[in-house]
Amino acid sequence: MIPYNKVQNNLVIEVIDEIASAIRLVTGVEKAVLHEPMIGQVEMDAVHHCIFGGFVSSVGPAITQFENMLCDYTGAEHAVAVVNGTAGLHLMLMASGIGSNSEVLVPALTFVASGNAILQANAMPHFVDSSPADLGIDVAKLDGYLADISEMRDGCCWNVKTGRVISHVMPVHVFGHIGNVEGLKALAERYNIQIVEDSAEALGSWKGGRHAGLFGTCGAVSFNGNKIVTTGGGGAILTDDANLATRIRVLATTAKRDHPFLYWHDSLGFNYRMPALNAAFGVAQMARLDAMLEAKSRLRIAYQDAYSTARYTAFFAGPGNCQANHWLNAIQLDQSLSQHRDAILHGLNERGYGCRPVWNLLSELPHFRDCPSMSVDQAMDLASRLINIPSSAMLASDLVG
Ligand SMILES: Cc1ncc(COP(=O)(O)O)c(C=O)c1O
Repeated sequence: MIPYNKVQNNLVIEVIDEIASAIRLVTGVEKAVLHEPMIGQVEMDAVHHCIFGGFVSSVGPAITQFENMLCDYTGAEHAVAVVNGTAGLHLMLMASGIGSNSEVLVPALTFVASGNAILQANAMPHFVDSSPADLGIDVAKLDGYLADISEMRDGCCWNVKTGRVISHVMPVHVFGHIGNVEGLKALAERYNIQIVEDSAEALGSWKGGRHAGLFGTCGAVSFNGNKIVTTGGGGAILTDDANLATRIRVLATTAKRDHPFLYWHDSLGFNYRMPALNAAFGVAQMARLDAMLEAKSRLRIAYQDAYSTARYTAFFAGPGNCQANHWLNAIQLDQSLSQHRDAILHGLNERGYGCRPVWNLLSELPHFRDCPSMSVDQAMDLASRLINIPSSAMLASDLVG
């Protein structure tokens, strides 16, 4: 990558012009951040009501109401609201039988929280490659890889190279696109590997009539301020498994046994329950979800159209066989431009458009350097060329034409 302050050649300026013109054409605005939440009077009223209702902390009607709304919307049998998506990922792993000799297959192309949660659970991330078509796990490549590096013993998938058990796989629904979950399910069943989904970005994404997070054992969504629905900070675990939901609730509540006044804690637990204030905010936000999804769909169509004639960039449309929430829109630079990515991003941000690269691969970060990894050449290529463009739902209300 060439340092961005060293490159201002004509080609880079042309590319910046091309990307910025399409953003301006679609949104009609001269400045736009990457993503901003839609917050108004309903959220203020909900929080006000919660404050004066007397329950502001980790119990109260707002939490139950928020969890019920999540179940109604997603079709999950159970939803457990927690302090953030990362805590949700950590809890899913802790409650689903992770051990210190476990490896968790996880894409290298994801937000750092996916890998951090695995380390927090005392397990080992094992990085896998991503599919350029949907940004999810490349299942065919993983299939060949597992045949090479693993053997089945006592019903478990052993990594013969590390001597650990590959017990879990954590697919990530990047930008809300759902990848090859059917293929992953079949593969995971063959190797007796549990699927726990990082659905942090995928509230409102569906495939084959199922909501993200419900393809495996459980999935965690995030309600961080930059997500499609926010609670300020927050997350939730979705699952159809009643026993798992109970274990998650207990672990999220310091593993305290339910009792009106005694403090008995069965095991190491965590203080991860979502406060009622955040849940009240979330109840108001959930009422906006359909409108947000509709706005994001319009924005995606307009961007796709605007970039259809672009010379240096292609709109990332996603797999087409899922109903994505289109949380963040992305474009891909031509391969020959990847070395100029940061110069292009610098120029776009200087012009007022909040554009971002996708993440650095986790396998390149210092604290994951010793983790096992398959070759992640596709993820590397994607990371060098993907750029997120302004995607706030309110940009759709200003759509030109
Ligand atoms: C893919 C992914 N995983 C996990 C998280 C963590 O969620 P949170 O920020 O709520 O902890 C995020 C977002 O922030 C994310 O984008």
